[in-house]
Amino acid sequence: MKTVFSFMKPYKLGAIIAFLLMLVELAVELLLPFFLGKMIDDGVQNGDLNNIVMWGSIMIGLAFLSFISGIINSFYASHVSWGFAHDIRERLFRKIQEFSFANLNRFPASRLMTLFTNDVRQIQNTIFMGLRIMMKAPLIALGGVIMAFVVNPRLAIIFLITVPLLIGFLLWVLKKASNMFDRVQKSIDNVNRVMQENLAGMRLIKAFFRRDFEGERFTDANTNLRDNTRFTFRFIEASMPILLFVMNLSIIAILWFGNSQVIAGTTEVGDIVAIVNYAMRVAMAISMFSFIIMAVSRTKASAERISEVLVEEIDLLDSEDADSEQLVIQGKVEFKNVSFYYPTAKEPVLQNLTFTVNPGEKLAIIGATGAGKTSLFQLIPRLYDVTDGEILMDDKPITSYKLETLRKAIGYVPQSPLLFSGPIVENISWGKEHATEEEIIQAAKNAQIHDTIMDLPYQYQTHVGQKGVNLSGGQKQRISIARALIRKPKILMLDDSTSALDLATEARLLDAIQDDLNTLLIITQKVSTAMNADRILLLDEGKILTIGTHEELLQQSNLYQKIVESQFGKEYLNVH
Ligand code: CTP
Ligand code: MG
Repeated sequence: MKTVFSFMKPYKLGAIIAFLLMLVELAVELLLPFFLGKMIDDGVQNGDLNNIVMWGSIMIGLAFLSFISGIINSFYASHVSWGFAHDIRERLFRKIQEFSFANLNRFPASRLMTLFTNDVRQIQNTIFMGLRIMMKAPLIALGGVIMAFVVNPRLAIIFLITVPLLIGFLLWVLKKASNMFDRVQKSIDNVNRVMQENLAGMRLIKAFFRRDFEGERFTDANTNLRDNTRFTFRFIEASMPILLFVMNLSIIAILWFGNSQVIAGTTEVGDIVAIVNYAMRVAMAISMFSFIIMAVSRTKASAERISEVLVEEIDLLDSEDADSEQLVIQGKVEFKNVSFYYPTAKEPVLQNLTFTVNPGEKLAIIGATGAGKTSLFQLIPRLYDVTDGEILMDDKPITSYKLETLRKAIGYVPQSPLLFSGPIVENISWGKEHATEEEIIQAAKNAQIHDTIMDLPYQYQTHVGQKGVNLSGGQKQRISIARALIRKPKILMLDDSTSALDLATEARLLDAIQDDLNTLLIITQKVSTAMNADRILLLDEGKILTIGTHEELLQQSNLYQKIVESQFGKEYLNVH
């Protein structure tokens, strides 16, 4: 909470000005009934036209003052609330950019989306309404009661009974509503989550014909949201008639007692008009409380959710002794007894890995699905940190490099290629700032995608839809390879990135990148790809089974023989 509202600091002055102007409006609102009473008593009752004109002019003047204050107040209130929202969005965005993979696992995308849309707006609205009218309500209720006492203490006594009664009742409503709003907020989250997963997986859902199932999932979440919201709002709305009933009773009481006092000559008519007027204003103000309660409890929840992200500790940073001068020159990678657990998991994913990849070497990593191949890759650019052991790059621990230096030396092509919406050329040059046209074309040629691009309607300017919807799987893979190649990385890491390519294209690709490359790490399911590498690492359930050339593995490993047999047939084994 505190973290979030510290973003108000730059807008303190604006908020104070808005608050002061609101006080002007408030003062006018409280003075008007008083002057109205005076006008009736001194002017209307005595038929004194001058008096009526005088009080009337004062009231018009005050109303105009209040009108001007209202406009300027509104100006500052929106300046403060929009500025606050802008700053906090900016900060959230930067914070999320810093998130490590482990941080991201804790905050699913749907939840982060809700922060930017729903939660920031909620706080922004409350700040605006707060500076505009919300803070005024309790002051009007209080001021109204005080002014009623100034006008006529004997009649105002009635307020002392009704107002505490109403406030007590409202506090009870507040407590109940706060829990209910928590539930509403969770339902909103749920709808967002299902919605997001659906949008992301629309194609899959269609392919699997899971429309009805997903439809039900959405209906459940949506109905839940409706029911929770409806119940909460009904509860709060139900409190309104009770409020008004009590307030009307007190107005009747004022008229009743006032009447007898006027007859007895102890009270003037103007006093009664003024006090009834105050009673109505107090009632209005108190009835706004339920609206304020809603806004405040929702805002509280939103602010807490935002702070959670803002205070989340980034668990993967440059280490303190990282040397900013130190660069990756050769591209030698060494694992020393490396073990790794995902933060959420109990079982280790990788256990005691020890191996070295020499500069310029091509190492293939092969292993069953779930063996830990992708996890192994992610440790090298420090997307996750090792749990145990050490990874060396050019004989120095990877933690001794700046994260930026380390990652810039690595061209990482993830398992599922992700493209951004925009022209193809931007997707490739994304890998390197200020890439020249020649560099882009060369990278595309090496990735074996240049010819395909030239056949597209707008060639390099062809627009890629969101996540590359208008490209084939293999085209996406090759564009994301081009994106990695353009950096001229010391180490290129391909995570099953040639899976959608035919053998000939794949061979041409690997051949083309040969010259530029220092070191190549390639995860693959295909023996044909693996056997072209200098050595093959066979990973099984997070452990290195063996490491060596294709021939060596054929000799040494049963599992490898089985994999080869499944892909090449029994005869191949007999021949070799
Ligand atoms: N895993 C996990 N948390 C993650 C990612 C993976 O607990 N954020 C677990 C998976 O359940 C799996 C193991 O880590 O059992 C290894 O995952 P991974 O390294 O992705 O396996 P790969 O060998 O890359 O499998 P595939 O060939 O299917 O890509
Ligand atoms: Mg994988």
